[in-house]
Amino acid sequence: MKNCKLALFASGNGSNAEAIIKYFLADKHVEVAAVYTNNKNAFVLQRAHRYGLAATVFTKEEFHAPAFTRQLQQQGFDMLVLAGFMWLVPPALVAAFPDKIINIHPALLPAYGGKGMYGHFVHEAVIRNKEKKSGITIHYVNEQYDRGDILFQAECPVLPDDTPDTLARRIHHLEHHHYPRVIAGLCRKI
Ligand code: GAR
Repeated sequence: MKNCKLALFASGNGSNAEAIIKYFLADKHVEVAAVYTNNKNAFVLQRAHRYGLAATVFTKEEFHAPAFTRQLQQQGFDMLVLAGFMWLVPPALVAAFPDKIINIHPALLPAYGGKGMYGHFVHEAVIRNKEKKSGITIHYVNEQYDRGDILFQAECPVLPDDTPDTLARRIHHLEHHHYPRVIAGLCRKI
């Protein structure tokens, strides 16, 4: 029986979600069991469909309701994995899944984190500030944006002719490689 049951949360494209789904397809211990999104037009819904995964769209009100947290608990998820998910997680949900919610951020936190710092905004700011390097951070989620304990970081260069798009591609490459492996490591400890 698989002993690490994951729920993925994504708000848009879902390339990280798909990298995680693919990585664990034939895994004996880890199961990606469901996809959750706050955006009914998110491309991640099509990705979930392609892999025959249950997908749930929810509103902000639902996200903050005790019933939502209860339902996640009843499903028996061992970990909630945020992969391009853009809402702050309500404190009651964080408390219900202590050290079981993780997120990926497309920069080297604590730099370039916080409210409004997501996706392209991060890469634009990094380039504007003429940083020489950027990278990814995988961290536990607490009740503040991008402030939970850091689990893993990987760096990449920022090249002189980078645009937010070229930097985003380099960062995505790092994310798709490392995020599934970090999750696998956490699942081994369950
Ligand atoms: C990823 O780069 C992820 O790190 C970032 O959004 C992108 C989603 O891409 N997340 C944040 O900025 C969270 N603050 P994807 O939908 O293709 O996985």
